[in-house]
Amino acid sequence: MNGLAIIGGTGLAELDGLQLTRKEMARTPYGEPSGPLTHGRFCGRKVVFFARHGPGHKIPPHKVNYRANMWAIRQAGFSHVIAVAAVGAISADLAPGSLVIPHQVIDYTYGRKNTFFENDLDEVRHIDFTEPYCAELRDSLCAAADTAGLTVARRGVYAATQGPRLETAAEIDRLARDGCAVVGMTGMPEAALARELELCYAAINVVANKAAGRGDGAIHSEDLRRNLEVGMAQAGALISAAIGRMADC
Ligand code: HPA
Repeated sequence: MNGLAIIGGTGLAELDGLQLTRKEMARTPYGEPSGPLTHGRFCGRKVVFFARHGPGHKIPPHKVNYRANMWAIRQAGFSHVIAVAAVGAISADLAPGSLVIPHQVIDYTYGRKNTFFENDLDEVRHIDFTEPYCAELRDSLCAAADTAGLTVARRGVYAATQGPRLETAAEIDRLARDGCAVVGMTGMPEAALARELELCYAAINVVANKAAGRGDGAIHSEDLRRNLEVGMAQAGALISAAIGRMADC
């Protein structure tokens, strides 16, 4: 492994326990990343932390420059990425505050810059995306959860929606019929761009709420915040448990 990048989403703007060494504002051919790369050491390992929505959480999911973000991580020499993201639970057995390591994705987003392979090509390229997440990195996370006594759902289909609004109850019913367990707004094109750059990429989803129509009435941001606080602390514990076990993928 050549260094681990941790992407923090809503509710994870910084990483507790990170010993900061420096901040770097990367330049990329795809424009500006969301914010600086925060280099440091976490549990004895070289890591970089990156806030997907930028400092102060000001960039909404559909405006994130995913290409610049992933390029910046690759350019800094990091080979592995754990992406933390808040989700709504579609499956009834996923409680708010709990964690999911998704194994599949369905992409419902539109209008996002979703590839590096579009200009000045020698030939058209199509990456294999049968398994959208790195199996070894997912295994490390699942094994670390066991060691640390953390309860995580080891599989789940992630629905990537456009946002920034939350879904309607009928939209969630449709995602459920498609086989989705969780719904979020940032998982794509991030995962596909990571694959184009040959990064080992896996996600930790933190359940912030029951998805639209799956709970009692409307979704309130206060509840979301409270659940994320619990879940993000667990995600931090999971990453520290996993970090020692990561072999080369
Ligand atoms: N839908 C989409 N994205 C989300 C949700 C949701 O219910 N909760 C947190 N991110």
